[in-house]
Amino acid sequence: MDHTSEHVITATEKSYFRRNIIHPHLMLNYLTKSWVFVALLGQWIFALYIFISFGIPALSGSPSSADTSRMIQGYVNGDELGNGILMMHLLPAILLSLGGIFQLLPYLRKHYPAFHRWNGRMFLTLGLLGALTGLYLTWVRGSRLSDIGSIGLTINGLLIMVAVTLAWKFAIKKQYQQHMRWAIHAFILINGVWTFRLYLMAWFMLNQGANGNTATIDGPADITLSFASYLLPMLIAEVYFWAKRQKSVYRVAIANLFMLLGLLITTLGVVAATLFMWWPRIIA
Ligand code: HEM
Repeated sequence: MDHTSEHVITATEKSYFRRNIIHPHLMLNYLTKSWVFVALLGQWIFALYIFISFGIPALSGSPSSADTSRMIQGYVNGDELGNGILMMHLLPAILLSLGGIFQLLPYLRKHYPAFHRWNGRMFLTLGLLGALTGLYLTWVRGSRLSDIGSIGLTINGLLIMVAVTLAWKFAIKKQYQQHMRWAIHAFILINGVWTFRLYLMAWFMLNQGANGNTATIDGPADITLSFASYLLPMLIAEVYFWAKRQKSVYRVAIANLFMLLGLLITTLGVVAATLFMWWPRIIA
């Protein structure tokens, strides 16, 4: 795929469309920036929730089963290996949710390239660790509510490994267009569990409760959302990359509809997950 012929908006185009309607290429930028802003808020609230729920008990040196009582298995007295891997799964999630979003800010990439490199290494390494420990917890330790309901998440974990490898490989080779493409997919996949919470809570909000959901997360809605939580954002990211290469304003306008849809879903999800899941536990 050729990523080199991105359309650059000229100054004349900009001023012309500013006076009339917003140029679709400019709108694409606004929609992207808005999404990153909403995602940043949602990621940091999630990070705060994980820090308060699991980080503080771990730092205080004595996490117990009471700290993880809402989890599937959580902390099990005497299971040192399982508890250790659980902590290796939960604690890096704080850094992932706090630091990952920095990679998307062009200002930091441009002015602080060393930060981008080190933060990127941290993000990809911890993302890989999250996938490996998550797969262990699900399939070896048995922390799953149902087999069929765990398939979407399992494929998510496997795809993290593919995307992390490709993002890293293209960064080393200095093929930055390809690097960016796979780094964005790695970001989406590593945040698949965050997005799943957004989509599930937005679904509950829209339906005023469960609809196609079960307590073991294997209802038709649960399974659809478990796949959609990374496939939909990955599709929208591909539409974005495609739109950046288009000269036709109509094509970009169509892509903007996808971007708008993504922005609305993410915003609804951040509001719903914050209200229903994270905030009550942050202030508890
Ligand atoms: C790499 C990105 C990931 C992050 C940032 C992440 C983060 C988290 C967080 C914060 C929790 C606590 C849940 C809560 O209280 O809301 C959790 C639990 C869990 N995660 Fe992940 N996760 C990731 C990937 C995965 C993957 C790929 C799998 C499986 C294939 C997985 C399996 C699990 C399991 C089984 C639990 C529950 C453990 C229990 O209840 O005992 N995670 N994860």
